[in-house]
Amino acid sequence: MQKVEDKPQIHDGLKGIYFANSDACFIDGEIGKLLYRGYNIHDLAEQATFEEIAYLLFYKHLPTPSELKAFDAELKASRTLPAPVIDVIRVVQKAHPMDVLRSGVSALAAFDPDTEIRFERGNPQPFLDATLRKGIRLTAQVPTIVAAHHRIRSGQQPVAPRNDLNHAANFLYMLFGKEPDPSEAQLINVDLVLHAEHGSNASSFAARVAASTLADLHCAIVAGIGTLKGPSHGGAAEAVMQMCLEIGDPERVPSYLEDRLNRGERVMGFGHRVYRAEDPRARHLRERSRELGIKKGQPHWFQMLQLIEKRMERYQSRGIFVNVDFYAGSIYYLLGIPEDLFVPMFAIGRTPGWALQALEHYQGGDLLRPLTWYTGPMDVPYVPLQQRG
Ligand code: COA
Repeated sequence: MQKVEDKPQIHDGLKGIYFANSDACFIDGEIGKLLYRGYNIHDLAEQATFEEIAYLLFYKHLPTPSELKAFDAELKASRTLPAPVIDVIRVVQKAHPMDVLRSGVSALAAFDPDTEIRFERGNPQPFLDATLRKGIRLTAQVPTIVAAHHRIRSGQQPVAPRNDLNHAANFLYMLFGKEPDPSEAQLINVDLVLHAEHGSNASSFAARVAASTLADLHCAIVAGIGTLKGPSHGGAAEAVMQMCLEIGDPERVPSYLEDRLNRGERVMGFGHRVYRAEDPRARHLRERSRELGIKKGQPHWFQMLQLIEKRMERYQSRGIFVNVDFYAGSIYYLLGIPEDLFVPMFAIGRTPGWALQALEHYQGGDLLRPLTWYTGPMDVPYVPLQQRG
């Protein structure tokens, strides 16, 4: 019971609060270290496929070749969307792609073969097994929703997935309708690996809150998608590219940043709730952004980003460093991915992370229900409507 005299410390933004154990992701924000299930992100980004990472996150170990083959077959078998879900996408096609993705995942719940399996306190295993199957299916279906929506809103037919292409290449194929250059598919693979999991970030926390009520996985992922949409979270890559387009020319970087910072505005792609050092994921996209800019005959975007990074060095003493989204936007842009698909790209990568966070919470996590300290008036007499005004 709240007593005015015992006002507790308010943990604004729940900063620094631990609320659960997790064996998925280790982050040391002071030195910029990130591990997925103990494996360093630097090794994973340079050597692993997204499929291996999804397996690692779901099954807690790296797959053997035969395990990966079976897992990959399961993903591929799940890529196609039920026809009514395509209809839903057509109906909401004018909405922002994140809203369409949210609606698409929500609609998928109605067609999921495990949708009727509910959590039973004395016998949770069938529900946990069903949740894992749903997580694998959603990992495969989310890219299809994003690509199908883009085709539909562009007046084209959705492109059916191709089972001879890996996750990243198939996404680009479904989006553009032609087989991608392998080096470009590999860029997307690295990007998806880097986005796959990140502890209790806002969207994963939202997914856990839904899971903590024992709502099913589709509900948890819908909560995650809705939360990812905000510019303080997934929207940063798009905002960075918008900033670069506004700047237009590397020569304008100093005056643009001066004006922006003088207005008290943030520079997108910098700062992170957890990292007080460089986000370890950023380095894997930095050099790739430079190389892609040269390859595409547009090196000025990288030059601009480098100048922004240089100018922001003075913020490092305050713990504000470049984050993963800073270079991601330039890569998507150079690959011809429309700006409003940048956040959905993040969602494609993060789907296994959301699913595993929900799965962890189903296995013994408590109902997430913190408190707000009431600061309004007390015991106000009710005045009937007719006597008001
Ligand atoms: N540019 C300029 N200043 C920044 C900044 C940025 N990108 N990020 C944080 N700051 C400043 C804030 O203005 C604040 O300054 P003040 O203490 O003088 O008011 C201080 O740093 C702390 O900011 P706060 O919002 O409390 O830090 P946080 O750790 O809670 O915020 C983010 C994390 C991500 C919300 C924040 O850094 C941000 O908005 N970054 C830009 C958006 C972005 O790139 N998001 C993607 C994250 S992966």
